[in-house]
This record gives sequence, structure tokens and C-alpha cells, in this order.
Amino acid sequence: MRLLSKIILVALAIVGVGAVIIGAWLMAGGISARSEPGRVEAVLARRLRSLAIPRAAHERTNPVEQTGQRLRDGMAHFADHCAVCHGNDGSGETEMGRGLSPRPPDMRKDATQALSDGALFYIIENGVRLTGMPAWGTGTPEGEQASWHLVQFVRHLPKLTEDELRDMSAMNPKSADEWREEEEARRFLEGGTGATTISAPTRHKHPGDIR
Ligand code: HEC
Repeated sequence: MRLLSKIILVALAIVGVGAVIIGAWLMAGGISARSEPGRVEAVLARRLRSLAIPRAAHERTNPVEQTGQRLRDGMAHFADHCAVCHGNDGSGETEMGRGLSPRPPDMRKDATQALSDGALFYIIENGVRLTGMPAWGTGTPEGEQASWHLVQFVRHLPKLTEDELRDMSAMNPKSADEWREEEEARRFLEGGTGATTISAPTRHKHPGDIR
């Protein structure tokens, strides 16, 4: 047999065995988001993600001057768009965060804090394919500016205070029901009956919702 056909045969055999292994993995519940990626898979995925971010992007530094107001902007944006998965404190301990595979990491920890500003910005703008992390970039200078504010806020996560957490809870998205309750409370305090005519669906709360 010629060498080339031997190589083709071996290659086909490898593909065949690979297909059987992937098939067996899928049958064993491999696509369920209930199982978390194993250690090897997690390390490999992180490595691949890092390689997939262009070097120039890794090396970018935050061009936006860091002020208290910009940090507040990033905080408000995070509470509104990110906390549903990442939690206001960045721990990832939310109902949605716990249900994802891979799970959002605890961003207060070294693994995230050791990423460069450029890498954080790139991930926020482009998301991470095959994970729950969406791309937030809008392709506009305003969008980029907002992402840099978020980078500044992610850096602040390890130092977040209880007061800031309380402020963020007030900035988390509210359901129609929560708006109605607040409106009722406001009217009650103003001396009214507190009753409103708006009827909203019954309150739907889960333990461990965003803190
Ligand atoms: C629908 C859920 C979801 C939302 C909403 C979300 N993320 Fe994520 N995020 C994830 C997941 C899952 C990962 C882990 C990705 C991975 O494993 O590579 C992640 C990863 C990240 C990372 C990389 C951290 C690290 O160490 O790997 C950053 C930074 C980040 N998110 C920032 C944000 C910001 C800022 C927002 C809001 C603008 C946001 N995320 C909104 C799910 C979400």
C-alpha cells in the first residue's frame, strides 16, 4: 500500500474514533448546562480564549481618565446589565450565573484581576463565544467609552463597599410588580390609601436573587 493511502486510512480511523467519543459524551449528558466544565477543559478554554484575543488588544490600556463619576457610571451600567449573571458584587452567585456552564467566574479573584485592561475591554466588547457572555460592543465611540467605564468598575470589584452594594441594589432592573410596590409605598407615605389600579402578575421571587 502506498504511504499516502496509509496516512489517509489512519486519519479516517482517528476521525471515526473521535466521532464515537463525542457521541458517547453527548449521550452521557455532555450538553447539559448542569455539569460544569472539568478542570482540564476550563484551563484549556481559558488558554484558547487568551490566544484568541489579538496581542494588540491585550496591550491596550484604559484611555479614559478614571474619575469617581466614571466609576459610578460603570457601577450603574453593571447593576443594570451585568449583575443578572455576575451579581452586583461580581461573585457570579446569582440564579442565572449558577445555571450557566461555564459559570461566570468570581471576578474579584486574581484570575480576572490579572487580565489586562485591554483583555477585559475586548471580552466586554466582543463577548465569549459558546458561553453565556454576550458581546456588548455597539461599534460606537460612546459604546467603547461605556465599556472602559465597566473595565474601571471590574477593577474596583475587590474593594466594593456595603454602601456601594446597597446603591447598586436600587439600580438593578425592576419588574413591573416592584415598580407598583414602590409607587404604592410612595402614595401611602404621601397620605393616600396606597391602592393603585394597576394589576401586575403575582410576585415571582427566588432565593439567592441578585443581592
Ligand atoms: C447572560 C449572562 C451574562 C451577562 C448578562 C454578562 N456576562 Fe460577563 N460573563 C458571563 C460568563 C458565563 C462568563 C464566563 C466566560 C468564559 O468562561 O470565558 C463571563 C465572563 C466575563 C468576563 C471575563 C472574566 C474572566 O475572568 O474570565 C468579564 C470581564 C465580563 N464577563 C464582564 C461582563 C460585563 C461588564 C457585563 C455587562 C455589560 C457582563 N459581563 C454581562 C456571563 C454574562
